[in-house]
Amino acid sequence: MKVLIVGSGGREHALAWKIAQSPKVEKIYCAPGNAGIAEYAQCVDIRAMEFDRLASFAREQGVDLTVVGMDDPLVGGIVDVFEAQGLRVFGPRKNAAILEGSKAFSKDLMKKYNIPTAAYENFDDPAAAVEYLETKAEFPIVLKADGLALGKGVLICNTLEEAKAGVKSIMEDKQFGSAGNRMVIEEFMTGREVSVLSFVDGKTIKPMTSAQDHKRAGDGDTGLNTGGMGTFSPSPFYTKEVEEFCQKYIFQPTVDAMAKEGRPFKGIIFFGLMLTEKGPRVLEYNARFGDPEAQVVLPRMRNDIVEVFEACIDGTLDQIDLDFEDNAAVCVVLASDGYPVKYEKGFEIRGLENFRGRDGYYVFHAGSAFKDGKIVTGGGRVLGVTAKGENLKAARANAYQAVDWISFENKYYRKDIGKAIDEA
Ligand code: AMP
Ligand code: GLY
Repeated sequence: MKVLIVGSGGREHALAWKIAQSPKVEKIYCAPGNAGIAEYAQCVDIRAMEFDRLASFAREQGVDLTVVGMDDPLVGGIVDVFEAQGLRVFGPRKNAAILEGSKAFSKDLMKKYNIPTAAYENFDDPAAAVEYLETKAEFPIVLKADGLALGKGVLICNTLEEAKAGVKSIMEDKQFGSAGNRMVIEEFMTGREVSVLSFVDGKTIKPMTSAQDHKRAGDGDTGLNTGGMGTFSPSPFYTKEVEEFCQKYIFQPTVDAMAKEGRPFKGIIFFGLMLTEKGPRVLEYNARFGDPEAQVVLPRMRNDIVEVFEACIDGTLDQIDLDFEDNAAVCVVLASDGYPVKYEKGFEIRGLENFRGRDGYYVFHAGSAFKDGKIVTGGGRVLGVTAKGENLKAARANAYQAVDWISFENKYYRKDIGKAIDEA
């Protein structure tokens, strides 16, 4: 098979690595890809939002399967464009990707189908939002821009003043662009966060092993929200009991609800969960693999992922048994100092060769580029260094050891990825 991957980050590198192991696959393309992905795939200079160019490329090259890694093209309807041209593609159609594309939609869906989540109200009008905050809100409270905002459209506000300023920045100043045309105001929840990624074929859902992200830039969960500074898998807080609850009251009901609404979901549903005192609640849905969750989940997966993708497309996922190794993985993101605000790039990355031939150690490129025959930093998040171990503690020690194999001028990383494990 010839496979095309759409995207350019660490998640797509992990996907390319995993897809390359399938005995069915003879050639991988990635659009646009990056310097690390180039090891497994021929990188093609087409942007992820250029649907017609991507589809033409897939037809011309005889691509058998396209896998879309990123949220923007899915929410924008890339799957519909490919399907209309008779191309096989893995991911939700536009009318199902709205599960991630509109937080107001997903909250209304959960309310309608009794899926546990935070209490909320949706607003189209900033004055109505402010009135609600002045008369009904309890603090802290959470404001969410409705649309895609690079994972940054969520504000946790401790006071009425902060919340009013938040409404202004989301709905009036449009800090997140048109994502802020609508807004969700929701109850603040406390507890452990867990990410569960799952394969879905429209009716059947098969959850993968759990993971946990670290979204803040600084140690001890301080500083600004980022795309994710590191992950570990599995989460020790996601017990068998929690898993059973989620399967019964969250996972299957979400898939059934989408089907009932005439929006059958095929692809990946990523459940962002909060394990509250009153039980698991949905924080958010995503319609794709997490980044950097994929970097710890995929190395632990035993299945041929191409077979699973095909089962999702064909509606035969009930015949697949997902199989994960009984170990753990930790991913530490190496970023450019100053991320997520202001940072320099273009510095040579040294030490990548240390990962060659070392089983259980991986370096996934998030933002890298070729310059004068060398690999240089090319983004805020640069690399995801992942290591496996027999348990989380061992995986963490291995990952931090491997972090030292890499050097570049403004290398920055969190020192406490997976520290929560110590409390489990
Ligand atoms: P989201 O993009 O919806 O996952 O939100 C980003 C982050 O904001 C989450 O990972 C949580 O840490 C936090 N968050 C979102 N919603 C809530 C909530 N209702 N209560 C507490 N924290 C929240
Ligand atoms: N790591 C969080 C996300 O992919 O949205």
